[in-house]
Amino acid sequence: MSSTTQPVQGMADIAAPEVRLWQRLEELGRAVLARYGFEELRTPIVEFEAVFTRSLGATTDVVQKEMYVFEKGGRRLCLRPEGTAGVMRHAAGLGEQETAGARWFYLGPMFRSERPQAGRRRQFHQLGVECLEPPSPLVDAEILALQVDLLRVWGIGDCRVRLNTRGEAGGHAQVAAGLRAALATHESELCDDCRRRIGENVLRVLDCKNAACQRIVAQVPPPTAFMSEASREYLAQVARHLTALDVAHDLDPLLVRGLDYYEHTVWEIASTALGAQNAVAGGGRYRLQLGGRELTGVGFAIGLERVVGVLQALGRDDALLTAPPPLVWLVGLGETAMQQNLGLMQQLRAAGLVCRMAPAGSLKSQMRAANKAGAAWAVIRGADELAAGVAAVKYMASGEQQNVALAQLATALGAPPPA
Ligand code: HAM
Repeated sequence: MSSTTQPVQGMADIAAPEVRLWQRLEELGRAVLARYGFEELRTPIVEFEAVFTRSLGATTDVVQKEMYVFEKGGRRLCLRPEGTAGVMRHAAGLGEQETAGARWFYLGPMFRSERPQAGRRRQFHQLGVECLEPPSPLVDAEILALQVDLLRVWGIGDCRVRLNTRGEAGGHAQVAAGLRAALATHESELCDDCRRRIGENVLRVLDCKNAACQRIVAQVPPPTAFMSEASREYLAQVARHLTALDVAHDLDPLLVRGLDYYEHTVWEIASTALGAQNAVAGGGRYRLQLGGRELTGVGFAIGLERVVGVLQALGRDDALLTAPPPLVWLVGLGETAMQQNLGLMQQLRAAGLVCRMAPAGSLKSQMRAANKAGAAWAVIRGADELAAGVAAVKYMASGEQQNVALAQLATALGAPPPA
């Protein structure tokens, strides 16, 4: 592996033909988001480290182990590991009036220094949304329905939604204390990490992959047992709205998201078409403090590599792609024709056609280039055609060829009517 020919481990180039699938996902996604009243927000990839340490939680894996942090000009900076905190940083700099009810979406690369494996990258891409509405089961259900709508438009609406609640933020200490007490009697049976987690961030114990820890977690009451009646009722209402909207979901009392800013509704969407890294998307309602402001909202992020992975695993990627527009290849015989073709090519492009030409070469080599590029037509001109004001148009599939007057050329090549 060479450091000048390979991307950094865990990062990848996205090239044709796969990049066309990405463009299509983005295009379809933007159309759905517009219908729900979302505007795009483009925040920088580099942020102050504190934006994330203050909002994601100091004891989360993302903050403790996965951030790309560096120093520049005496400031601690980082590559964004997710989108929510940057959007909230933007909101914190605006007035209350401007942010109330704001609906923003974002699309772009995120960076986490995790161990790369199938479906897990160090640079990955998210399409995310944030909706700055105060707690309301109606809004949470609408945003989850939007997420399912996006997946449906992309052809993977059959992913499984797991739903849970983190309870209202004011009750988090009580939930932690209840869980800590319940787990304390089993402390000696837990793994080393979980013994540490009990004191540090007890909810993380529910996430542990260790079989012994999972057995113990199954024996103790779930977090909802330590929540207020209002928090449980909030979740029940979200579930009722989802059922009314026909959004299939499973309640999972052990679902804990890996970020600390959540309160009330949380969810994850997974696909059985993926391996161990099967989470396609995750989201929930959150409350965080930045720049002296408390911000509350609900949102989600979809991992686009995972979406592409599911589409490819299920063989549904091709169905999303529309055929590219036919390509016209201009062939010039001699210097003058080549030069004239450059101008003709611009005229045909202005008429809406997709055109290319080779800058030099014999008729044979130019035709070979046209074939290789998959051109639908070759437009051939030499001294005779230039003198007669025509072009020889060859339909590549059949080899059929005829002279067409320049004035009729764009129409003959199927140019769309002028707007
Ligand atoms: P998250 O669950 O950390 O949530 O990430 C969301 C999605 O990003 C995951 O479900 C997965 O599809 C994708 N993803 C995460 N890490 C990787 C990786 N290393 N490689 C490939 N894909 C990955 C968030 O980021 C929250 N900001 C979501 C949110 C928005 N909650 C409220 N608003």
